[in-house]
Amino acid sequence: MDATASTAAHADRPAMNLGSTTRAPGVASRPRSRWLHPAVKPVLFVLCLMPFAWLFYGAWANTLGANPAEALIRATGDWTLRFLCLTLAISPLRQWFNLPPLARFRRMLGLFTYFYAVSHFLSYAWLDQSFALDAIVRDIAKRPFILVGTLALVLLTPLAATSFNRAIKWMGSSRWQALHRAVYAIAGLGLLHFFWMRSAKNDFSEVAIYAVVLGVLLGWRFNRWLAAKRATAAASSAVR
Ligand code: HEM
Repeated sequence: MDATASTAAHADRPAMNLGSTTRAPGVASRPRSRWLHPAVKPVLFVLCLMPFAWLFYGAWANTLGANPAEALIRATGDWTLRFLCLTLAISPLRQWFNLPPLARFRRMLGLFTYFYAVSHFLSYAWLDQSFALDAIVRDIAKRPFILVGTLALVLLTPLAATSFNRAIKWMGSSRWQALHRAVYAIAGLGLLHFFWMRSAKNDFSEVAIYAVVLGVLLGWRFNRWLAAKRATAAASSAVR
């Protein structure tokens, strides 16, 4: 994002977009961070692609177990949720470890979330439903956990489509920010989708881990929002 977009959009983007690397006022000066090294982004890009490459290789080499279709659908679902958590973790990590440059990676992680979500949907549509549109629509209507996953993917689409600098200029930063707050609903829907799917098997151990991680990440944001609200109220009562 360039400097012409509003500073409000820089301050704390919900998730999908690249943040500014400009140091916020009050943040201590530190030597040029190794996170700003030009090699970091390409390395991160390759790392983000590794799970996909590994699954692709597994499908080709037939090492995905007795049910490769299920393994692919599940693994891409898991990676979608992991990338969603990573994307949401950027802002708290920036603050906790005083690492503003981490914002450079937010857009890439957000787009990888979408990439894995689309791969997940395509694995399901292809391997589970043979791309039969009527069967997919019937399945979405019949199984609530599929409906919830679909809703999450549908909501994720405009976020991915507007994660570019030009979209922020075109929409205006407050409208852009309002749209990108949908990431919180998406995280909730993703978790509900996972919970619902696992509840059929009475297996909640992994779901509980994601619930704690997302609870901490969303709780951090809620706290910041409360603090900002309190500060505004205090400032306006001081003026009066
Ligand atoms: C942001 C959107 C989504 C997220 C975060 C997500 C996440 C997940 C996760 C974490 C799992 C469980 C993997 C495991 O058991 O290890 C899963 C399974 C699954 N998801 Fe999704 N999903 C999403 C969207 C969708 C969509 C759009 C569909 C289909 C229309 C879908 C269909 C499925 C199916 C069929 C399974 C496997 C069920 C089974 O093996 O019994 N998901 N998903």
